[in-house]
Amino acid sequence: MTPRAWYRYWADPARFHVKPTPQDEAQPDRDEVNPHFEVARVITVANQKGGVGKTTTAVSLAAALAEGRSRVLLVDLDPQGNASSGVGLRVQPGQSTVYDVLVGDVELVDAIEPTSLRNLFVVPATIDLAGAEIELVSAFSREQKLRRCVDTIRGDFDIVLIDCPPSLGLLTVNALSAADGVIVPIQCEYYALEGLGALQHNADLIKANLNPGMHLTGFVMTMLDGRTRLSQQVVDEVVSHFGDQVFTTRIPRSVRLAEAPSYGQPITVFDANSKGAKAYRALAHEVLHRLHDQWLSEVEA
Ligand SMILES: Nc1ncnc2c1ncn2[C@@H]1O[C@H](COP(=O)(O)OP(=O)(O)OP(=O)(O)O)[C@@H](O)[C@H]1O
Ligand SMILES: [Mg+2]
Repeated sequence: MTPRAWYRYWADPARFHVKPTPQDEAQPDRDEVNPHFEVARVITVANQKGGVGKTTTAVSLAAALAEGRSRVLLVDLDPQGNASSGVGLRVQPGQSTVYDVLVGDVELVDAIEPTSLRNLFVVPATIDLAGAEIELVSAFSREQKLRRCVDTIRGDFDIVLIDCPPSLGLLTVNALSAADGVIVPIQCEYYALEGLGALQHNADLIKANLNPGMHLTGFVMTMLDGRTRLSQQVVDEVVSHFGDQVFTTRIPRSVRLAEAPSYGQPITVFDANSKGAKAYRALAHEVLHRLHDQWLSEVEA
């Protein structure tokens, strides 16, 4: 089988002849909250502020959704390559990456790699991607390149999650142009709201000019330290600002979440019963509900 056929084989749920595990059966309401969308919903995780938990959220959410039987593609759009290593992928020489898809003539489907999790696939990135911001400048409709690539595989997945770099450059613009939904992680610390105005402004421009179908899926509060008053004050401030656009799930600050990437495992595998794993499962649940509601409103419109 070619790599292409191989991934299609595994991405098709009709081909799984796997008996449900006791864990699956302990969650009888999964299918109800886990719709299989006709074509993949594309979710971009963005915030130009560095170190706020974008990659941790993209990787953990992708794993939690895959565990819940959604077919998930994680696209690493950051030259740091943290999402790729976070799911245990070491890019081998000659292996196609998202750079080859955006700048070269490799098709997205040929850059998809399986992970050790059933239902979770990844398009990896390496430091090469840093050059793409410059090399794309002269390309035809350079802001929509990723969208055109993602459209070719939409039929094969339920969710495509894109992890952005900490900037508002061309890579993030591409990710927002491809998105049906945007998730914005906000770290529970003093300058949490700084820079959100610029993000919102860019998102509005992209919505008006490139991607009218983009919606805010929600803000997620990350690294909440329950022992400090500051953390709670930040949550209160963000909620008073954005109301129910803030997911009710809070991601706690946890050593296990910080350790997981160095083992190349998402938290749901690294420590399946940890607070962090449970929080990201709860977030996955909320995200699916919101995506489903958005999808229904589009179908009915
Ligand atoms: N809930 C958490 N508890 C503890 N540590 C966390 C948590 N979330 C993220 N971290 C750690 O904080 C650091 C930054 O997180 P992460 O890489 O997810 O942020 P990022 O927004 O993707 O960063 P960048 O902007 O550089 O891409 C990492 O070392 C990560 O392991
Ligand atoms: Mg990151």
